[in-house]
Amino acid sequence: MNEKKGVLVTGAGGFIGHHLVRRLKEEGYWVRGADLKYPEYESSAADEFEILDLREMDKCLLATRGGIHQVYNLAADMGGIGYITAYHAAISRNNILINANMLEASRQNGVQRFLFSSSACVYAQSKQKDADVAPLKEEDAYPADPEPGYGWEKLFAEELCRYYRKDYGFETRIVRFHNVYGPLGTYDGGKEKAPAAMCRKVALAANHGEVEIWGDGEQTRSFMYVDDCVEGLMRIMASDYHEALNLGTDELVTINQLVNMVAEIAGKKLKVTHDLSGPQGVRGRNSENSRTRRVLGWEPSIPLRQGLAVTYKWIASALSKSHARQPEVMEPAAGD
Ligand SMILES: NC(=O)c1ccc[n+]([C@@H]2O[C@H](COP(=O)([O-])OP(=O)(O)OC[C@H]3O[C@@H](n4cnc5c(N)ncnc54)[C@H](O)[C@@H]3O)[C@@H](O)[C@H]2O)c1
Repeated sequence: MNEKKGVLVTGAGGFIGHHLVRRLKEEGYWVRGADLKYPEYESSAADEFEILDLREMDKCLLATRGGIHQVYNLAADMGGIGYITAYHAAISRNNILINANMLEASRQNGVQRFLFSSSACVYAQSKQKDADVAPLKEEDAYPADPEPGYGWEKLFAEELCRYYRKDYGFETRIVRFHNVYGPLGTYDGGKEKAPAAMCRKVALAANHGEVEIWGDGEQTRSFMYVDDCVEGLMRIMASDYHEALNLGTDELVTINQLVNMVAEIAGKKLKVTHDLSGPQGVRGRNSENSRTRRVLGWEPSIPLRQGLAVTYKWIASALSKSHARQPEVMEPAAGD
């Protein structure tokens, strides 16, 4: 391993981690990936890929051994809104263990920089009650009132990063992702997010058929294409900024607009129906990017329509290959 460039990506079998590993390899890094599973849709570009349960301290020590100088800690138990509202205890416990043990193992093994992947779910729910919500600034996470379970554990892990910096001088970076989408993301099984779920539903619907979404569809979100996400991650790791930074676009859309955009890309005329009993998450959420622009001299800019066209094409083709025509079970209306 080139000692100077050894990088560990945890969650490398997952959506963002897989894309990040590929980009790091293109940039010439030596990369170790760690996860509970291998990537689902294509093999990893990592130099080494280890199957490890990172809730366990000895596995975190293994993952960070041997001259790893940067850790992108993306491993987490998570999914779309249906998943994160259903499993508060398990998600919180799993992620608290992963983050606490990964931080400590990284410190013990002399890692120089540790990036923690937080979420817009840390933002106070009281500030997200309207569909035409004001974009969320980093300081809107306090006074704390985050999403139950997933949001609380992310907010606490942000604090833990700050304590490690204060008590040990350990270099941490904190990224607050707003919804990320793109090819090679989970699109069925219950852990998928809204854009992937919409692409799957539209791909499986007959022209002039119906698609159902959770809620009245007027809830709003912004969505970031995965290439912007990976670019932002690398810029934040390279920056000197220690506090939390938003990483998302500020192109706000309703879930109805999202599904209509996908239908238009697919060239299908569809009737959208609404399941008002389904979970919707907060009413509106958008990213305020002034600080990101100031710190990074950059912000995510790939238009939703453009990223969705690529994502739809990939999901439609994956579905046609797997001949997956099973009935819908979990139907996310909006992710985090
Ligand atoms: N995708 C988004 O829209 C989004 C939004 C906000 C925050 N995030 C955060 O970004 C990170 C990456 O998200 P993603 O979309 O790639 O999710 P993902 O579910 O595709 O990837 C997470 C990976 O972590 C792995 N993992 C879970 N428990 C583990 C354990 N005990 N040990 C080892 N690996 C384990 C999973 O197997 C999975 O491959 C996560 O921390 C997530 O909370 C993502």
